[in-house]
Amino acid sequence: MIITVTSYKGGVGKTTTAVHLAAYLQRLAPTLLVDGDAIRSATKWGQRGDGNGLPFKVVSHAQMVRHIRDYQHIVIDTEGNPSDDDFSDLARNCDFLVVPAVPESVATDGLTHTLAKLQELKSERYRVLLTMVPPKPRTEGQELRAMLTANGIPVFTAEIPRLVAFEKAAAEGVPVYGIKDERAVRAWEAYEDAGKEICNG
Ligand SMILES: Nc1ncnc2c1ncn2[C@@H]1O[C@H](COP(=O)(O)OP(=O)(O)OP(=O)(O)O)[C@@H](O)[C@H]1O
Ligand SMILES: [Mg+2]
Repeated sequence: MIITVTSYKGGVGKTTTAVHLAAYLQRLAPTLLVDGDAIRSATKWGQRGDGNGLPFKVVSHAQMVRHIRDYQHIVIDTEGNPSDDDFSDLARNCDFLVVPAVPESVATDGLTHTLAKLQELKSERYRVLLTMVPPKPRTEGQELRAMLTANGIPVFTAEIPRLVAFEKAAAEGVPVYGIKDERAVRAWEAYEDAGKEICNG
């Protein structure tokens, strides 16, 4: 299965999502993470710490061709702000598109544009993942979910809470389950739930 993570907005948790979905899928079958971002955030994540903190291989686009036949699952991290053509190209050439979105109090241009583009896609092939969802009693997550649903956009039931554990994980070069933090289990379970939804429909 080819899973692509993309969004028009930057900084919405694409790389964090790609790393954790790859960690989830790797437990099921050999999984390759393709770092499609020129800044190489996913590659750098894997190089921090002892350089062996991620349980899957991370390669660049160019390297992908060499490795692809050895893997059952491919997760592709992309850079923010794709052109419309690139977005359509990414969406068409994967089995499942994951679009992270951060609930914020106002709908931004980026989100509006993403909505318009998503509505052109077949709904069974993609889902929006709410990321960095602020804790209760804040309601931005529920509001964004309601807005997306009202617009006919499929949304993961799972949502990713805003937790410092994710930043620590990136800094230490491991998935979030690998750090010492009382919320690390909760953080990992959120991505496990998202992974299950991708695999089970
Ligand atoms: N659920 C979360 N809770 C708290 N912080 C998070 C969460 N997810 C990601 N972050 C942090 O937010 C920042 C942006 O995340 P990330 O790099 O995954 O986004 P991105 O969409 O890949 O960004 P870019 O567009 O620059 O590639 C990082 O510092 C990351 O550690
Ligand atoms: Mg990124």
